[in-house]
Amino acid sequence: MKPARIAVIVGTRPEAIKLAPVIRELQRSRRLQPLTISTSQHKQMVRQIFHDFGVRADADLDVMRPRQTLSELSSRLALSLGNFFGHDRVDAVLVQGDTTSAFFGGLCAFYHKIPVGHVEAGLRSGDIYSPFPEEMNRSLLGRVATWNFAPTARAAANLRREGVPARRIHMTGNTVVDALQWMIRRVNDAPLRRLVGKLSRSTKLVLVTCHRRESLGAPMVAVAGAIATLARENPGLVVLFPIHPNPAVREAMMPILKPCPNVSVCEPLNYSDFLACLRRAWLVLSDSGGVQEEATALGKPVLVLREVTERTEGIKAGALQLTGTNKARILRAARRLLRDAAAYRNMAKASKIFGDGRAARRIVSILEHDLR
Ligand code: UD1
Ligand code: UDP
Repeated sequence: MKPARIAVIVGTRPEAIKLAPVIRELQRSRRLQPLTISTSQHKQMVRQIFHDFGVRADADLDVMRPRQTLSELSSRLALSLGNFFGHDRVDAVLVQGDTTSAFFGGLCAFYHKIPVGHVEAGLRSGDIYSPFPEEMNRSLLGRVATWNFAPTARAAANLRREGVPARRIHMTGNTVVDALQWMIRRVNDAPLRRLVGKLSRSTKLVLVTCHRRESLGAPMVAVAGAIATLARENPGLVVLFPIHPNPAVREAMMPILKPCPNVSVCEPLNYSDFLACLRRAWLVLSDSGGVQEEATALGKPVLVLREVTERTEGIKAGALQLTGTNKARILRAARRLLRDAAAYRNMAKASKIFGDGRAARRIVSILEHDLR
């Protein structure tokens, strides 16, 4: 019998990381065959991650344009994904997370009556403007999807509360833990030395990422101000910030961070280099969804540069603390961790709350069963 063809839609860096384990698992299946479609919403960053995992795109929709608006991105995705599904018949479509590529992947598959699997379904912040537009993208996918692959019990409960039938909800764990476990075995410290020099055992490394659309402009300037002040107050700290390629992020951050001698800003890192830094980090400042999950899995405290998070499990586990983008609040939280060893220890606990590293296998087994 011919294997069922599964189109896997990848738009941005986190989708590439979280779908790589699923693509690899589909490649091992005798009953399913993956067709990996890169929309290139992120061009260089997805290429970088695919290279890390040894994954190749079967088609590239080339939608990225510098500084494009959400409407421009959406219209390019709708046209190119719509054309793709019109010409190339597949048996199911997999999308991941909450990006515009994921949403249009799901919507265009629906227009062609192709069943949709949503990986990392059911996360909710409860605020449609934060994360923006991701909270809405993810909620709408909950309605479109035939298979909602919820990473945690809380995510599954969110879907049930919204009326998604139980037969459409499968609790699988988050595939980010699969990716993390696979890659961390391949990590070494050479890239860290290249980026910040040889660190003594007592040197505290602070790892920063910041890119959210709702924080562009004044909130990001405030975050940069907090980082610069923290670095100035603590000349022994080493701050490393792999900066997102979005020009609006660089415009807000660079003028404030460039003059700080103990802040290194670098280009986006490949996944294993980033994990080398995360593994060595003392503290993380981030507004990233994936980084909140990885840091929780590794027991690295995160000051979350957002007003709300849809990863509330990490707060409960103790690893995440919400500070928003307010300069004073970020500084207060960081200074406390610097001075209070017990408060630090309370946050620095590894947790399996986001998954056990077998999510991709579960997802593929469910598809194999349902697409017999
Ligand atoms: C997107 C997602 C967000 C996700 C984030 C992960 C949407 C609406 N947003 O936000 O959910 O958290 O990716 O990083 O789907 N750029 C490059 N090269 C790249 C990638 C981006 O130059 O490889 C630049 C381009 O100028 C692009 C801009 O960054 O226009 C913004 O990219 P975009 O995908 O629109 O938004 P993100 O903020 O990256
Ligand atoms: N990441 C990476 N290199 C970097 C910064 C982040 O590989 O320089 C990884 C990180 O480990 C995480 C993912 O990128 O898995 C998060 O992506 P991003 O912050 O862009 O998106 P989000 O998770 O916020 O949607």
